[in-house]
Amino acid sequence: MSGAGYDLALDQAAEALSAAKRVLVLSGAGISAESGVPTFREAQTGLWARYSPADLASPEAFAKDPERVWAWYHWRRSLIARGGPNAGHHALTEMANLKSLQIVTQNVDGLHQAAGSRRVAELHGNIWRERCSACDFHRLVPMAEAEGDGLVRCPDCGALLRPAIVWFGEMLPATALAAADEALAAADCVIVVGTSNQIYPAAALVDRAVAGRAPVVEINPEDTPVSRRVTHRLAAPASRALPALVAHLTT
Ligand code: OAD
Repeated sequence: MSGAGYDLALDQAAEALSAAKRVLVLSGAGISAESGVPTFREAQTGLWARYSPADLASPEAFAKDPERVWAWYHWRRSLIARGGPNAGHHALTEMANLKSLQIVTQNVDGLHQAAGSRRVAELHGNIWRERCSACDFHRLVPMAEAEGDGLVRCPDCGALLRPAIVWFGEMLPATALAAADEALAAADCVIVVGTSNQIYPAAALVDRAVAGRAPVVEINPEDTPVSRRVTHRLAAPASRALPALVAHLTT
């Protein structure tokens, strides 16, 4: 997008956001890209360009080779902890001081919360949460303790702990889906940031948003399947567009 085109779209998006009381933010891996956390579907750099989801992010993969699965998640934890939240995450925390804001994220990195955001519904779980593969035990590992490696065992029953992430073939948490439904019904403005809008049911929220009454702002340097249907399209990185939107709200 040219400078003038972007500036106009930014002004219009900021106007829609200003007029809104309740804002829903649907976020994906792209918002964390500038923290050095790889996205999934981008050619060359995306995780799924280098690894197979079936080998690393499925219950079958964990049953077959838990060491390999845990090694991959320990590696991803270390990238997340090293990168920390970026200007995009921080801008959303600031936006929540100005608007009633609910974040619904596909990200498992916990970086929205690390930036101070409180209302975050996680559709795909959280890489810092571990749960037992056999009993009800679960715990949250602090991001500062990212340097673990190897298998992790349940302190209660000794079975293997697994990352509390929604793997392929598993159900999304009902509480996060309910929070998303409620926020979508109430929202006066929806911001869709850093997602390729290809993975369902998360992408269905975006489909419903663009079919709804509230204006939809998409922030993504690349086009996605909904780009032509959103109200305002900001073809820019999250770390540029989100702080710019907040700046408009405060001036
Ligand atoms: P994808 O990797 O599919 O898409 C990332 C999107 O972010 C792309 O559309 C990029 O163009 C965009 N992007 C890259 N850098 C950006 C930046 N700086 N600012 C804004 N956008 C940027 O990631 P998701 O859509 O989040 O599931 O993927 C959805 C799910 O697929 C993930 O939650 C994961 C994966 O399989 C699980 O792990 C369960």
